[in-house]
Amino acid sequence: MNEQIIQIFLDHPNQYVSGEKLSEALNCSRTAIWKHIQGLKKKGYVFESTPRLGYRMLQIPPEPLNVKQLISMLDTACLGIKIKYVQEVGSTQTLAAELVKKGAEEGTVVIAEQQTEGRGRLGRKWFSPAGTGIWMSLILKPQIPLQFIHQLTLLISVAVCRVLKRMLNIDVGIKWPNDLYVGGKKVCGILLESSAEDERLKHVIAGIGISVNLKQEDIPEELKDKMTSLYVETGEQINREELFVLLFKELEELYHIYLSEGFAPIRILWEALAICLDCPIQVHTHQGTIQGRAYGMDEMGALMITDEEGNEHKIYSGDVSLNLV
Ligand code: BTN
Repeated sequence: MNEQIIQIFLDHPNQYVSGEKLSEALNCSRTAIWKHIQGLKKKGYVFESTPRLGYRMLQIPPEPLNVKQLISMLDTACLGIKIKYVQEVGSTQTLAAELVKKGAEEGTVVIAEQQTEGRGRLGRKWFSPAGTGIWMSLILKPQIPLQFIHQLTLLISVAVCRVLKRMLNIDVGIKWPNDLYVGGKKVCGILLESSAEDERLKHVIAGIGISVNLKQEDIPEELKDKMTSLYVETGEQINREELFVLLFKELEELYHIYLSEGFAPIRILWEALAICLDCPIQVHTHQGTIQGRAYGMDEMGALMITDEEGNEHKIYSGDVSLNLV
């Protein structure tokens, strides 16, 4: 019955359909129609009801991820070996940390439709509404020293950036260290959390947040000038299953290259995608703010900057503001 009701509204886009017409079409009482509409509202459909005119469907909920289809399309040896998919979670990072404690193996991925306490870098919140994004955490166990973890963040930003460029042909670039920007607004953020013993990494939880199918009106007013989505930038609904598959493949390939060849190839790719090189920037670090020009990345993954007095700096962590002219 619900499907039939939805179909009638899809056949009458943006129009009112009276309770009488609906009850005739479905051969049931108007009270039964009202009850079904209430049920659909609970599932995320938005209806407007106006006396004498009837009901109008204003919004349909986003399609949930088709995890079976995603698994059948996966083309990786390790990444996505196990997928923990949940409708709602505080943060996929926290759930992934719990799975690590229970012995989850490398390549395990946590995916959520919605996060209620999504977290970003530097203690910020991460806006993660239902059904519209890629909110995931990957469990990795690389045999590398703790001080190299920063390189993994850079690797992930390169992988996501390359996939978005290839799949959607959009002008996306990396703002140091790992934010992805389109048209001056952030579309993806990456957060690495880890645990180490004797300066060696035990595991890394790589959180990736991509704003995929959010519409302009889904973005809160206070974030409108800072963030965008792939849908807003392309005008097209993005197939999340396909995006996941391409991401896993690219991440796995770059991860293997990194483990066998080191950071050098990743550094070259990162520099080619960076949007913060050779333009005036401000870098806010724990030690203060540096104003100058970034001219590259060193072999360890530090941003190399010449400040306004001509002094050289190497920065491993901080926040960059671009003074684009
Ligand atoms: C940032 O740019 O500040 C990093 C944002 C990272 C967001 C992702 S969404 C999936 C994972 N779970 C979280 O709580 N955060 C990361």
